[in-house]
Parts: sequence; C-alpha cells; structure tokens
Amino acid sequence: MKSIAVVGSLNIDLVTHMERFPKPGETVIGQSFRYNAGGKGANQAVACGRLGGEVSMFGAIGKDFFANTLLQSLKESNVRIDDIRICDGMFCGVAHIWVDAGAENSIAVIPGANAKVDVNYVESVIPKLTAVSWLLLQLETPLPATTYLLEQLPPYTPRIVLDPAPAQSLDRFPTQRLWLITPNEHELQWLTGLSTATDEGIEHASYRLLETTGVQAVLCKAGSRGAYFQDGSRFLHFPAYCVDAVDSTAAGDAFNGALTVALSEGRSIESAIRFANAAGSLCVTAKGAQPSIPWRKDVETFLQTERV
Ligand code: RIB
Repeated sequence: MKSIAVVGSLNIDLVTHMERFPKPGETVIGQSFRYNAGGKGANQAVACGRLGGEVSMFGAIGKDFFANTLLQSLKESNVRIDDIRICDGMFCGVAHIWVDAGAENSIAVIPGANAKVDVNYVESVIPKLTAVSWLLLQLETPLPATTYLLEQLPPYTPRIVLDPAPAQSLDRFPTQRLWLITPNEHELQWLTGLSTATDEGIEHASYRLLETTGVQAVLCKAGSRGAYFQDGSRFLHFPAYCVDAVDSTAAGDAFNGALTVALSEGRSIESAIRFANAAGSLCVTAKGAQPSIPWRKDVETFLQTERV
C-alpha cells in the first residue's frame, strides 16, 4: 500500500436539519441541531484512515473550544496529525450547514485558521509531501498556497487528486500537474459553463474540462445519478447504489478518500470507482460529516449485498 497525504481544511460543522430552506427574509423552525468534525480536507483524511489507507493530514486549526474535537476525530480514524499547524489567537474553521428533508445541503464556511495554510506552511511541509505517493487537495484553503505547492512538487509523484470544491476559477492554477479532478455535477457546470443536466451534458462538460485543464482524467460525482469517468478515450458511467438518504454532507469527501485508498492498493480505476461509490452511498445514510463516513468493514459488507 502507498502512502497518502491530504492538504486541506478542518472545520467544525454547525448543522441544522429542517424541512426546507428558508427563503431570503423568511424564518423557518428547524428540526435538530448538532455540531461535529468536518472540513473537506479532514473529511477526506478520515475517509482514507477508516478505509485502511496510510494517511497524514496537513492543515491548520486554532486554539479554541473546538480544536480537540477536530484532532480527536482524526486520531480515532487512524490519521496522522503531527503536521497540523496549531495557531495561537485564532479560531478553528466553522461551517454553517443546513440540511433539508431531501438530504440536500447548503454550506457557508468561515475559514478561521484554515487561512494559515499559507505559502510559509506549505514550504515547511514540502519535503514530507514529496515523499508520499498520493496527494488529495480541495479548494477550501488559500489558492495561492495550493498553487505554490503544485509548482514545487516534482512532475510525476505524488499523484494528485483535486476536488474543486468550493468551485472557483482555475484559470491561473497549474492544473496540468493534476492527475485527476473530481467535481460534482454543479461544480463541473460552473467550471465549464456547460449544462450537466443529462449524461450527454456530463460527457461534453467533462471532455471540455479535460481539454482546458490538461489533467489526465475527470471524474464527475453526481450523487444519485452515480459517477462519470472521462479520460479522453473512455467515458464510463458507474450507477449509484440505492440507499435511503438522510444527509449528503461529506459524501463527496468519502468518495474521494475511498477512491484514493483503493488506487493506493493498486486497484484499477473501475474497481476504485465502485468502492468509492459504495463509500459515498453509505455516507448519505447517516447524519453529519465525519460521523457518517464509513469504515472499511461497512463498505465491504455493503458491497456484498450490492444494490444498484
Ligand atoms: O464537504 C463537506 C464539508 O464541507 C463539511 O464538512 C464542511 O465543513 C464543508 O467544508
């Protein structure tokens, strides 16, 4: 098995479940509130750790009431945390999350200490990141530092998987250094300006993203529509599994972590996507980000009773 590093955000998620989202100016009564560990980077690291990957987390937290919850969740999920920057006088990243009765979510993030994943921090951890085989990135930490990181890494290793979330312009980002980019269908539409409402739309948009970024492959995560892989010569569809969804938060993160673990074990891209689809599907059956990320035995049991 090859080692994995995740550079990204750690957030405390403040989660409210409600029947439907309020319109601007409207108040609705929610059904429940909880807080839990989250952040796209930390979620992906937790997924790697729970699914059997050898993984280290790189990011930053503040020194506040929530810091221990974030570190504890990573440790309990077999994630190495020695390189997380702990910032005096700062608060941890916070995500305000609304989840509706259809399991859809809306998220607003206040970066807090995630803003300290800056060029200086990246510079200090480059020797460690150069030594891993796989690197997972997202766009919830400062883009200039992520850009710098890509510019400093050697040309072929580690292999880099970018989750372009939250969606933002990649015009000045060295995307040709990426191996794989994994937008959801909304991010793919945003990044290309092409509709992703149909399978054909996803095929065209993923091809366009391949052309404009120079990445090796695009993998679109489209929730209940499944996943779509495009590498210029193949366009493959992997249907989603049928599950009772209660909260889609972190399903994409569980998918990315699972995909990378499977690839780090030497599995084919097709086999890795099926494994990732199962992890993402299981994630939506429970509430919360990290509390809902499955363990390896759960995914394997689920795959034995596969329901597409
Ligand atoms: O991808 C889900 C995550 O997005 C949440 O855990 C939240 O923290 C935001 O970063």
